[in-house]
Amino acid sequence: MFKIKDLILRVPNMISSQQCKLLIDHHIKNEKGYELETCPEATTGINTTSSFKCLTLPPGSEVHNIIHLKTREMVQRWLKYLKKFKAFHLPLLSTKLNYSHQYRLLKYEPGAKIHAHTDFADYVYASCTFNLNDNYSGGLFKFWNGQHTVKLKKGEGMIWPADYFWIHEVAPIKKGVRYSANCFIKSIDQELSLKMLDQTYDMARKRIEDPQANHQSQYFWKR
Ligand SMILES: [Fe+2]
Repeated sequence: MFKIKDLILRVPNMISSQQCKLLIDHHIKNEKGYELETCPEATTGINTTSSFKCLTLPPGSEVHNIIHLKTREMVQRWLKYLKKFKAFHLPLLSTKLNYSHQYRLLKYEPGAKIHAHTDFADYVYASCTFNLNDNYSGGLFKFWNGQHTVKLKKGEGMIWPADYFWIHEVAPIKKGVRYSANCFIKSIDQELSLKMLDQTYDMARKRIEDPQANHQSQYFWKR
C-alpha cells in the first residue's frame, strides 16, 4: 500500500543551471516590484502574511516561458508517475490539469518563511515548485506540520495535489538566500474561474435569501 507522501513527485534537474541563473537575475533586477503574500494559516485559519519577496513573471517573457514549459512537463511526468499505482482516476485528473495560474518567483532571505497552509482553491488541483539554488541553509519544505520534510536541490521540480489535506510550509532560512518559482494548476483559466466563482456565490446568496424556494440542494446550516 502506498503512503500519502508517495503522491508527491520530485524530479531532479528540471531547470538547468543557466535557466536558474536567468530566473534569479530576473528577481534581482525587478526586486523593487515585489509583493508579500497573505493566506490563511492552516491550524488557525487566520490570514497571515509571509515574509518571502514575490514577483509575478510577466506573461510572454523568457522567464515566464521557461516555467510554463517546465510546469507542463511536470504535469505530464506526474500523470505518468501516478499511473504506476494502479489506483487513481487519472483520466479525470488529467482533465483538471489544463491551466497554470500565477507563475511566481520567490526570494527567501534569512528569517523568511511561509507558514503552514494549503494551496487549495476552487478549480485548483495541483501545485508545482522549482528550487533555483543550493547555497542556503534552513528553508526546508515541510508537509503536514513537519511529518514529511523535503530538502530540494538546485533545479529540482516538485508537484503535488493542492487540496486541503496537503498542508505545507517553508521553514525559516538560516543562512544565505533561497530562490524558487511556483504556480498553481487549474482545470479552467483564471479569468473564467473568477467569473464562475462570482456567479456561484451570487446564486448561493440568492438561495439563502429565498429559503421558501424548492431547491434540489439544501443548505446545511439554515432551515
Ligand atoms: Fe503553497
